[in-house]
Order: sequence, then C-alpha cells, then structure tokens
Amino acid sequence: MKTRILYASSYGYAKEMAEQLSVGLSGEVQCVNLNVKQNLDLNDVDTIVLGSSIYVGQIHKSMKEFIKVNHDLLLKKRLVIYLCCAFEHEFENHLKNNFPLELLEHASMIQNLSGAIDKSKLNFGYKMMVSMIEKTEAGKKPILRYDDRIQTILSHLNT
Ligand SMILES: Cc1cc2nc3c(=O)[nH]c(=O)nc-3n(C[C@H](O)[C@H](O)[C@H](O)COP(=O)(O)O)c2cc1C
Repeated sequence: MKTRILYASSYGYAKEMAEQLSVGLSGEVQCVNLNVKQNLDLNDVDTIVLGSSIYVGQIHKSMKEFIKVNHDLLLKKRLVIYLCCAFEHEFENHLKNNFPLELLEHASMIQNLSGAIDKSKLNFGYKMMVSMIEKTEAGKKPILRYDDRIQTILSHLNT
C-alpha cells in the first residue's frame, strides 16, 4: 500500500502532524510539502492524506491549488483530510469554506488536529492578528491538543 501525506504548513505544526502520521502508517509512506512541490505523480498511490493549517479562515493557497488541479484524481483515491484549527468551534465552517463538497463526502475520515501558536516565531502582521484574537472569548481559552486523533487516523488507515 502506498500513501502520500500532502501537507501545507507555515510554522511547522501541520508538518509535525504529517510526520507523526508517517511514522505510524504501515506500507510505503512519503510526506510532501505542497508549499514546495506541486507536480506529483500520484497514479500508483492508494491513499492520499491532505493536511493544512488555517490562517484567518483559509487553508494554504498551495493546498487550494492542488485540490483544484487534482480534483478528479482525489475522488479516485482513498482520502483522509486533516486541518490544524486552533479553534475547534470553527472547524466545520473551515471545511465547508475551503473544500469542494464532493471531496468532503468522498473522504473516509476528516479530523481537526488542533494547532499551536508560538507568537515569538510569527511575522509582524500575524503577531498583531494574534494579539487581537487573544482579546476574544475563543482566543482567551487555551488551545487543546487532541493526540488521540492521530491514533484514530492511524487505526483507520492501518486496517
Ligand atoms: C494570524 C493567525 C490566524 C489564524 N487563524 C485561524 C483561524 O481562522 N482558525 C483557526 O482555527 N486557527 C487559526 N489560527 C491558528 C493556526 O491554524 C494554528 O496556529 C496552526 O497550528 C498553524 O499551523 P502551522 O504551524 O502548520 O502553520 C491562526 C493563527 C495565526 C497565527
């Protein structure tokens, strides 16, 4: 079984999730950063995992572009999607706003793997945004980790 984990990440959290998945998956597994590489030969791949972090309600442009170009191919593969949403209550809306409905219906599993924000690493604009988010009700709550959801994806794909 061949699996490709295609991820898009700015500060490393979605990448870390891809790497954790790759370690636990059986068969031939490769992680690919879509922000670096877009043209991929996926014809002989059985399973595709798409993973992206979210910035102001949007998945990465590279992920959007990849989905647009490979829409039909994705519908022929076993598909799992994960998002890295720091704010769990926004997860369903982020899915609906960023992915075509038929891909969401086709995916055999979709998970939110939460997120991490390290303000010291952010660029100036993002730092300002996070300072504003921190003043909101949702932003005052701690960002929870859902490590069990990695295991849920692994159990799903390894059986
Ligand atoms: C400026 C900014 C905007 C964000 N906007 C959202 C958002 O709209 N919804 C959400 O759930 N998380 C949001 N997040 C949280 C990120 O998705 C989270 O930090 C994620 O782990 C980042 O992943 P990365 O390190 O792979 O880039 C935001 C984070 C930053 C810094």
